[in-house]
Amino acid sequence: MGENGSIWLPDASSTLAPEVDALWWFVFWASTILFVGVVAAIIYYATKYRRRDPSYVPDPAYESKYVEMAWIVGPTILVLIVFTWGANVFIKLNTPPPDSYNIDVRGQQWSWSYTYPNGVQSTTDLVVPVGRPVKLTLSSSDVLHSFFVPEFRIKMDAIPNRYTSVWFEATKADTFRVYCTEYCGTAHSGMSSNVVAVSESEFQQWLQDQNQDLPPVELGQQSFTQCAACHAVDGSQLIGPALNAVYGYERAFENADPLVADENYIRESIVNPNAKIVSGYNPVMPSFSHLNEKTINGLVAYVRSLSDRAPSGDSSAGSSASQSPAAE
Ligand code: CUA
Repeated sequence: MGENGSIWLPDASSTLAPEVDALWWFVFWASTILFVGVVAAIIYYATKYRRRDPSYVPDPAYESKYVEMAWIVGPTILVLIVFTWGANVFIKLNTPPPDSYNIDVRGQQWSWSYTYPNGVQSTTDLVVPVGRPVKLTLSSSDVLHSFFVPEFRIKMDAIPNRYTSVWFEATKADTFRVYCTEYCGTAHSGMSSNVVAVSESEFQQWLQDQNQDLPPVELGQQSFTQCAACHAVDGSQLIGPALNAVYGYERAFENADPLVADENYIRESIVNPNAKIVSGYNPVMPSFSHLNEKTINGLVAYVRSLSDRAPSGDSSAGSSASQSPAAE
């Protein structure tokens, strides 16, 4: 029923999307026909039985058993059709095929991160192969989020301390937007991401490329996408402080003594953000300790690269630990 290119619905781009759409159109047309029929009947009878003069007394009306039966049985059948059909699609949407490719999805204020079976972690795009069922196992580090890809007709809550799952099979190579559809705080509307569906061979290539070592600064810059909702790198204040003049600069805190920012400070600010709250800001940043070491080191290197100076004076230990702050 014409779901592609429709002004009503985004392109159906997963195997189950046409089934969801078919049910949607059935409910839409059934409702439309009923609505038009009911309104037409109201107008017809209101005209036919209007009071023609003040002394007019109508004949009493007796119901027809057949009409009574019809409007009990008819809608019951209609509702049962929608229920059975809907339950059928619902079960399919909730039953990943056994050979599905699993990707872990983590929601966090205010970004999505994706972990692949071989340990590759993507904090930018969810890259998936076309024509292969993909199961997403979702969880959250903080509050309720909801993972929504309109073109795939899938939406699933990401919940702290619980795993939920949803699956899809992309039917064409394209980029689709991911939305968070559960209000989760200040930057909820900025909590978006992309699903990039590519051919199986491009997907394998991508997975390999992720295993090659990116220079830490480049990896950090890539991963920084998930920080960008709250941290600018051009000096502007967002929810959190800008990060371009941090490394090597003296920082003042709400809850700690001032210090000159070094690698240890930047790392701490990623994994334990509330240890030192920069003056004038609120303790709202969640921990990013779920990121793997490589990514954290990359982020530290990237923030360092944004600065034009090195730690000076008496901030002694800092820079020597730069390459492997996790080694301690
Ligand atoms: Cu996450 Cu809204």
